[in-house]
Amino acid sequence: MSHRFSVVQTAPPDSILGLTEAFNADPNPHKMNLSVGVYKDESGQTPVLKSVKAAEQKLLDGEVTKGYLSIDGLPDYRNDVRELVFADSIAADRIAVLQTPGGTGALRVAADFMATQLPQARIWIPSPTWANHAAIFAAAGLPVETYRYLSNDKTSLDLDGMLSVLRDQAKPGDAVLLHGCCHNPTGVDPTADDWKQIAAVIAEKNLLPLVDFAYQGFGDGLQEDANGLRTVLAQVDEAMVCTSFSKNFGLYSERVGAVSLVAGNAAECEASRSQLKRIVRTNYSNPPRHGGAIVATILADAELTQQWKSELEAMRVRISRLREQFVETMKSTGDGYDFSFLLRQKGMFSFSGLNPMQVDELKSKHSVYIVGSGRINVAGMNESKMQPFCDAVASVMS
Ligand code: LMR
Repeated sequence: MSHRFSVVQTAPPDSILGLTEAFNADPNPHKMNLSVGVYKDESGQTPVLKSVKAAEQKLLDGEVTKGYLSIDGLPDYRNDVRELVFADSIAADRIAVLQTPGGTGALRVAADFMATQLPQARIWIPSPTWANHAAIFAAAGLPVETYRYLSNDKTSLDLDGMLSVLRDQAKPGDAVLLHGCCHNPTGVDPTADDWKQIAAVIAEKNLLPLVDFAYQGFGDGLQEDANGLRTVLAQVDEAMVCTSFSKNFGLYSERVGAVSLVAGNAAECEASRSQLKRIVRTNYSNPPRHGGAIVATILADAELTQQWKSELEAMRVRISRLREQFVETMKSTGDGYDFSFLLRQKGMFSFSGLNPMQVDELKSKHSVYIVGSGRINVAGMNESKMQPFCDAVASVMS
């Protein structure tokens, strides 16, 4: 009998997570993984935050049930998300928040919502963007278009290029994906004035902003990082925001995120919430409890909240120091290389400018893993390994 699965073709490895599989299989004891976006401390570990451990202890002691959550998740957690993202900029009865499995889960729920409820909409995503964005939207059946994001030297925002594509090619009713802060993969963010211009074009063209907000607190601070999306929301009545707490709470494997929908009025918000819940029910039914419960426990306790904010700030400050150390070390390596543009970039990632051949050589000759686009996870660098890393980068550039 022939096997029915014999027709199945092997899929290519994931362009980000596939690299960690290759890294794990690499026997070189000096290997370095600067591909996937996880923060690593001085000892090279991705730590469990102390505030998270304390909250987990509280949860363990007080846990009375493992019964299902409601389709939209824990009520306290949803209020926390609303508070962190919007503060009091929008009336609560116009915002529907659903707890989701990570930011990726939030994006997929948002994509399914747009594909089913806004059937004329296309989504405009920046080029470049996170490698998974186009695939998520396409999987939901949403037509995907791209807008220009980077200037030719790949180190700064091409605001005019971005706005002219949105103004000339997007149709009213289309959605536009924006990175709330710490653009992945480039680290290039709009300035406050750029955000005003972006907001004006979105309003003028009647586009629906979909904000991917995965790095709140990794750029300039928790409140500061929300300013861009709040500038847009001041100009439009409707939006969607996808939150992830993977990075800022270090809760990567707990898969904890949220999708928030801002509607023009309370009745439209309730109808939209009901559709979002239907999408969740036919996908993963309801979200996992633990990660959301950790966030809600921390944010319900003033001391734990303060501890979490300090831990978040320590990660942000250390990432900036690593940027500086990398730039300084490259300056004094070989003939000297100017990477000072990294100092203007925000968050975990930077575009190094290395081409795919150089990226391949880094991997094959030096066991240094970065993403094929040339994206480096700055938050994965290590003080004690900076010189060997810079030597490897210099050797593929020479
Ligand atoms: C990344 O961009 O490396 C992270 O967002 C992790 C992922 O899922 O790709």
